[in-house]
Amino acid sequence: MHLKKYFIGNWKMNGHLKDLNQIKKVDFFLKNTKKKVNIKCIFCIPTTILSFASKIKFSKLDIGSQNISSASHDFGAYTGEVSSKMIKNLKCNYSIIGHSERRAMGETDKDINIKVKFANQNNLKIILCVGDTYKEFKTKKTFFKVKKQIKSALNKNKKNLNNILIAYEPIWSIGTGKIPTQNFLEDFFSKMKYFLKKEFKINIPILYGGSISSKNISEFKSLYQCDGFLIGGASLKSKNFIDIIKKYYN
Ligand code: PGA
Repeated sequence: MHLKKYFIGNWKMNGHLKDLNQIKKVDFFLKNTKKKVNIKCIFCIPTTILSFASKIKFSKLDIGSQNISSASHDFGAYTGEVSSKMIKNLKCNYSIIGHSERRAMGETDKDINIKVKFANQNNLKIILCVGDTYKEFKTKKTFFKVKKQIKSALNKNKKNLNNILIAYEPIWSIGTGKIPTQNFLEDFFSKMKYFLKKEFKINIPILYGGSISSKNISEFKSLYQCDGFLIGGASLKSKNFIDIIKKYYN
């Protein structure tokens, strides 16, 4: 089990330059907190403000992108695209890949497999998002679906497994305020841990994402197998994000 817990913010298509102050406030909190916590905090922010954020000297957190191009891992004639190399050149060490909102806009398993490969080529760490629809959840297909998504993303990409984090995000939970029951999550996370260990021979961290807030984070304290959280709406304001961390550890 990983003792380190990840708290990852996903700003989606939100944030002006001035909003980087919110991340500075989280960094200040992490630097000054008296609690001995083993936290890894990452903010995945829009490309438009990533280069500005990369110039700020954060002492306790990292920044990341929310996507990389599937056209090339390098430079090239691909209008509008941003490659893993360009992200890495910003001294940015992480990228989300395969978020369900991107899959809904047409990103395929094949695209995701290529993106994982390109991220690996530039030694970029990956937050690989996987998740079920409500129908799949209701018909008990979650485990099957998630396993398939992970196998497909990591197919022929097994050289750099230490660079992978997996985020289980039920699609029906994102931005809805609905979260799966603790019984379901306990069962699901222990099955996943077993599967990941068996399939990839290492302990790949697995996080939960979907409607995490300071109101429900306490429910996750006893979910030992969960290595952290991918937080959307509640990561936009430093106060909400800090409250989540405080409530998790109090
Ligand atoms: P949410 O989003 O916390 O706003 O539900 C999570 C995500 O989409 O990563």
